Amino acid sequence: MDGRVSLSQVAMRFGDFTAIQPTSLEIESGEFFSFLGPSGCGKTTLLNMISGFLTPSEGSVAIGGTDMTRVPVNRRPTAMIFQNLALFPLMSVYQNIEFGLEVRGIDRQKRRRRADELLELVALGGSGDKPVAELSGGQKQRIAIARALAVEPRVLLLDEPLSALDLKLRQHMRTELKAIQRKTGITFIYITHDQGEALTMSDRVAVMSEGRIQQVADPMTLYRHPQTDFVANFVGENNRFPGRVMAIEGDEVTLDAGLSAPLRGHSMTPLEPGDSATLYIRPEQWRLGAADDRCLPLAGVIQTEHFEGAWLTLEVELNQGPMIRAQVPQMAAGADTQVPLRVGSACRLGYSSRQAVVLAGAVHEPTSEEVVDVAATA
Ligand SMILES: Nc1ncnc2c1ncn2[C@@H]1O[C@H](COP(=O)(O)OP(=O)(O)OP(=O)(O)O)[C@@H](O)[C@H]1O
Ligand SMILES: [Mg+2]
Repeated sequence: MDGRVSLSQVAMRFGDFTAIQPTSLEIESGEFFSFLGPSGCGKTTLLNMISGFLTPSEGSVAIGGTDMTRVPVNRRPTAMIFQNLALFPLMSVYQNIEFGLEVRGIDRQKRRRRADELLELVALGGSGDKPVAELSGGQKQRIAIARALAVEPRVLLLDEPLSALDLKLRQHMRTELKAIQRKTGITFIYITHDQGEALTMSDRVAVMSEGRIQQVADPMTLYRHPQTDFVANFVGENNRFPGRVMAIEGDEVTLDAGLSAPLRGHSMTPLEPGDSATLYIRPEQWRLGAADDRCLPLAGVIQTEHFEGAWLTLEVELNQGPMIRAQVPQMAAGADTQVPLRVGSACRLGYSSRQAVVLAGAVHEPTSEEVVDVAATA
């Protein structure tokens, strides 16, 4: 059986509440696939329908082309790794890894051989006799992976497995997880609310919001060509300019966003002059120049400046316009003495229209006062 996972119109309702809207999706065998979305959007619910812990209210799940509707959790070719890994703390590493094999009646010698192979795979060879309690967080996580792989699943389901670890270890484990996935060729289905994790490890990512998949694409495409306002804002950072379409030439759109100059960007969807649309410029796409640099179309005043090592992050209030966030490489900022990037100085800004994305519809962004109002009346 291969590790292909097919969701056909699966939906999940809890009483009146729809946690997962009808969703269809094909995950390839051997793919590292992530579901990315904020807390409560339905990631665990979706994963539980694949593992069998939940039965979909509608639709079906197939693995390797076989319908799983009537297949219980322990008969599915899946294994799951949870956020709080649930290793047996009083047992040794060997006992933990061999547990699933023992339950399946596999003899001692075979179990030990398999456990040793898996310990090599997760780079913990020779530590089988250690008590689990003596391992570090990252080592425990790797044992949890070895234990899940021991039963030779075709699909490994990982529910935010790194969230309990500190930042350095989390970043290190991304590389490890990816390497383990490549070596084993098993389908990994990974869920996370951390876009850094999803983007660095995955072949493809499904971005979710409120029980709905917004976009499925490889990480680069998600970042460069978001298809919805949610994706444009959730994956990476964006400055957003709602406005009205003035002109269109091929896929290049000119937008009146009420600023001192029209904005240009490209759109993948058909638009007409007069349509409302929103243009997105990422903080790192801005070019900043001196106040008299007429090549740059917009003008503003630098309001704040944060030094972040490699990057300088600036907030610039556009003349008669909103506050935007810009990120410039620290080296360039220091080297270019023509541009005084100091709080209070006037500057000009430009960007390449090829990089700016335009999406149909002008999404109203609630002000912080409105958000507070809603919270107060709720
Ligand atoms: N058994 C249940 N009964 C009722 N509602 C549920 C149940 N399980 C989940 N929900 C609701 O479904 C929605 C999705 O929950 P889910 O656990 O899938 O979110 P999630 O994306 O995994 O969030 P997190 O990132 O916080 O883990 C939430 O609103 C949650 O309250
Ligand atoms: Mg969850």
